[in-house]
Amino acid sequence: RRCAVLISGRGSNMAALLAAAANPAYPAEIVLVLANKAGAGGLARAAEAGIPTAIVESRPFGRDRAAFEAAMEAELAQHGVELIALAGFMRVLTEGFVSRWAGRMVNIHPSLLPSFPGVDTHARALAAGVRLHGCTVHLVTPGVDEGPIIAQAAVPVLAGDDEHSLGARVLEQEHALYPAALALVAQGRVRVEGARAVVADQPG
Ligand code: GRF
Repeated sequence: RRCAVLISGRGSNMAALLAAAANPAYPAEIVLVLANKAGAGGLARAAEAGIPTAIVESRPFGRDRAAFEAAMEAELAQHGVELIALAGFMRVLTEGFVSRWAGRMVNIHPSLLPSFPGVDTHARALAAGVRLHGCTVHLVTPGVDEGPIIAQAAVPVLAGDDEHSLGARVLEQEHALYPAALALVAQGRVRVEGARAVVADQPG
């Protein structure tokens, strides 16, 4: 399946997806890295890897999210994109865009959802005193960080952790989890039943 990775920043998860997809046996091909910020560090990494990149600046569109998304859709269509992986993409998408990509768009979030949706997850996990923290890959639905969960990885919260040490421990897990979870979607193994995602044993 032809996949686009959408980024806003450094793109370490994007790099993990590119590395996995470099294996010809991987079920998704990354055909486009699209950033909503010209300064996104991940763009240079993608270009180095020989992956087509596009910049669709969100800022000039202001509050007109639908117009911004129409510009993105044009890029996605031009590259024949079938699947979208959000990887540190810091824009909330409209219900229209999300429903057009229903079942075909995934996100990685740095917490064990449904705990800690939104931003500053590591600081909030520390403040809450949880003993386990982690990351989640989920299908994207209109509610932010609410979609059916495909895969999760947990890490311990250790004495002396600050948000940086904890975040680094989680990020290492993200880089393994995201390629594995995207592969399940690309293989057609993820089915939605109500609010849950059900993952089939075999590619379907
Ligand atoms: C990651 O922690 C991801 O879970 C979150 O934003 C961060 C992006 O980091 N959605 P990177 O750009 O992939 O390095």
